Amino acid sequence: MHILHVVGARPNFMKAAPVLRALGQCADVRQTPFRQTLFRQTLVHTGQHYDAGMSDVFFRQLEMPEPDVNLAVGSGSQAQQTAEVMLRFEPVVLERNPDWVVVYGDVNSTVAAALVCSKLRIPVAHVEAGLRSRDRTMPEEINRLITDQLSDLLFTPSADADENLCREGIATEKVHRVGNVMIDTLIRLLPQAGIPAEFAGLGRFVLVTLHRPANVDDLPWLREMLTALTDVSRDAQVLFPVHPRTAKRLVEANAIPSAHSRLRLLPPLPYLEFLALQRHAQVVITDSGGVQEETSYLGVPCLTVRENTERPITLTEGTNILVGRDIARLRKELERVLAQSPAAPRAIPLWDGRAAERIANIFASRV
Ligand code: UD1
Repeated sequence: MHILHVVGARPNFMKAAPVLRALGQCADVRQTPFRQTLFRQTLVHTGQHYDAGMSDVFFRQLEMPEPDVNLAVGSGSQAQQTAEVMLRFEPVVLERNPDWVVVYGDVNSTVAAALVCSKLRIPVAHVEAGLRSRDRTMPEEINRLITDQLSDLLFTPSADADENLCREGIATEKVHRVGNVMIDTLIRLLPQAGIPAEFAGLGRFVLVTLHRPANVDDLPWLREMLTALTDVSRDAQVLFPVHPRTAKRLVEANAIPSAHSRLRLLPPLPYLEFLALQRHAQVVITDSGGVQEETSYLGVPCLTVRENTERPITLTEGTNILVGRDIARLRKELERVLAQSPAAPRAIPLWDGRAAERIANIFASRV
């Protein structure tokens, strides 16, 4: 069986890595005496993220194979980026003629590849299906809705995702609850995620990531958040690895903290370094989806600067608190969390390091 994977943006890489690995380890027992793998795999990188720090370093640390094809689409408006992936992906998928195309998460590359395949009648499998924020102002929510409607196999991380798909009329036989593939990667690499030397001996620190358009493209709001973070940095060191979109906006908003501030802006960090910082942070402030999950697994408090989340299990079973766009609430929750002693991590069902293995078994049963 030939499986073609499509990745494009940073959060795709940690989801695809364990699936590529698990499929690669499936042996075809019929091919004796030689040990053959059951699957032929092709990896397509759309090039949505292209900086070394947003892409290459993740491939290295996650031990992913080099992409077979790079579509090099780069940045653009929502429509440009989606259309460019479609235009460049169509001839590749026609030429490679896979049995299945696997897409990940909710980025523009995901929906673009799913659209192309559905019209060519190539079966699509969606990893991380069924998540819903119910907020259609987010491009990711549109991408999730369309990708799930077009998919032939839907691999979900949690029961809420299954319920969302059922409500949208998706046939239950297409849906398989496999667990969280991103946590597979976290569990595998956590032993290698030592605190980098430059951050050793920092004492207590707050870790921040912000990149959603709703937060960073609104410059007065971005300035307000930076003021709040500067206040926090009087009590604790604040580390803020900055996404390229955010970096541009901070310059435009004239909101770069002074070089002496304990609010430290950092370049985007590689996977292992960022994981180490999450593990040792006293609290994480974010608007990322993946970080809500990783902190929940690690048992580190997470304050999410959004009005909603497509990952409600992190609120009910994890460590996530939605603070919305409310600086007073953010300050109050921060004070509370900084005064608390750390809580023990809670086990979330199927966040056990074996989600990709379940996906591989489902494909193996269809060979
Ligand atoms: C995308 C995803 C988002 C995900 C995020 C993780 C969509 C709709 N959004 O948002 O769900 O959480 O990735 O990072 O697909 N840029 C660079 N170098 C890069 C990549 C981007 O400089 O390697 C800059 C470009 O100026 C670009 C901007 O960052 O315009 C935003 O990149 P884009 O891919 O459009 O979306 P993200 O905000 O990264």
